[in-house]
Amino acid sequence: MRVLVTGASGTVGSLVVPRLIERGAAVRALSRDPAHRVFPEGVEPVEGDLERPATLDGVFDGVDAVMLYPHPETAEEVVDRIRNAGARRIVLISSASVQTAPGADTEHNHGHQHHRPVEEAVERSGLEWTHLRGGEFMVNDLDSLPDSVRAEGVVRAPRGDEPGAPVHEADMADMAAATLLEDGHHGRAYEITGPESLTPAQRTEVISRALGREITFVPLTLAEARELWLARGVPPELCDWLLWEPGPEDDGTDTDPTPDEYVSPDYQRVIGRPGRTYARWVADHLDAFR
Ligand SMILES: NC(=O)c1ccc[n+]([C@@H]2O[C@H](COP(=O)([O-])OP(=O)(O)OC[C@H]3O[C@@H](n4cnc5c(N)ncnc54)[C@H](OP(=O)(O)O)[C@@H]3O)[C@@H](O)[C@H]2O)c1
Repeated sequence: MRVLVTGASGTVGSLVVPRLIERGAAVRALSRDPAHRVFPEGVEPVEGDLERPATLDGVFDGVDAVMLYPHPETAEEVVDRIRNAGARRIVLISSASVQTAPGADTEHNHGHQHHRPVEEAVERSGLEWTHLRGGEFMVNDLDSLPDSVRAEGVVRAPRGDEPGAPVHEADMADMAAATLLEDGHHGRAYEITGPESLTPAQRTEVISRALGREITFVPLTLAEARELWLARGVPPELCDWLLWEPGPEDDGTDTDPTPDEYVSPDYQRVIGRPGRTYARWVADHLDAFR
């Protein structure tokens, strides 16, 4: 089987590629700049930009399955190209945030704006499709936590007592490899969370235990969090979405129908074992916190 992986140099994609090779697939890796990316031996690098479909001439030829990163502006044309090239299967990296309650206002929902239009294009394609709706990635913590842990022994975050079930990037990659290579996943939208629900304060305790020294959780107000994230370069619209709170006039319907602390059974059902814990994730990235 020949698989084209878009986002092959990214966090998830770079873990998908070796899993596919291990399982005997031929892998073609798409990048906007393949000359400056390092892929495992045997991988066929190809150049192309999902934002400019004309650059994708020939990249899907001879491919059986495609792992697709979402680019809503060009999704329709990219999906047409995948189908016209003769591929039969698309696995889309999507987001759990597409799941909103019926009647909810989706205008300010990142998932609805960014991921859902691509899901729809893929569903209309007539090809076999699977959506991997990832919850919050644990790896986001690598951008936000290590600096203050190393320098001051603190974690600063808002909503310290609100639980969530973040997912290890390797679990996303396991799901991508399985659904790209195996039959039986057509028409499925898998929600992929971690195996446990933890508050940010509890995650800080996990980091403390792994480092063997006291790390203190410092709660931030939403305004303080916004200021800190903007200073770190998080785009304002992403801050708006991440820090959105229902106002007094809101009837509360603009929420995910599954609560943030929901632990999805989908990873275990497909892979046959529980997903990786936050403690495992910290152990995998411990050098960043030291
Ligand atoms: N972070 C979360 O909490 C979360 C939760 C749910 C879902 N997601 C979804 O997961 C995905 C992010 O995964 P990730 O962390 O693995 O990504 P990442 O590390 O940011 O990597 C992005 C990849 O996409 C490629 N890329 C970017 N723009 C491209 C373009 N125009 N054409 C072709 N390739 C392009 C880049 O490759 P080159 O630079 O080599 O071209 C890179 O390999 C996103 O779709 C996000 O919405 C994230």
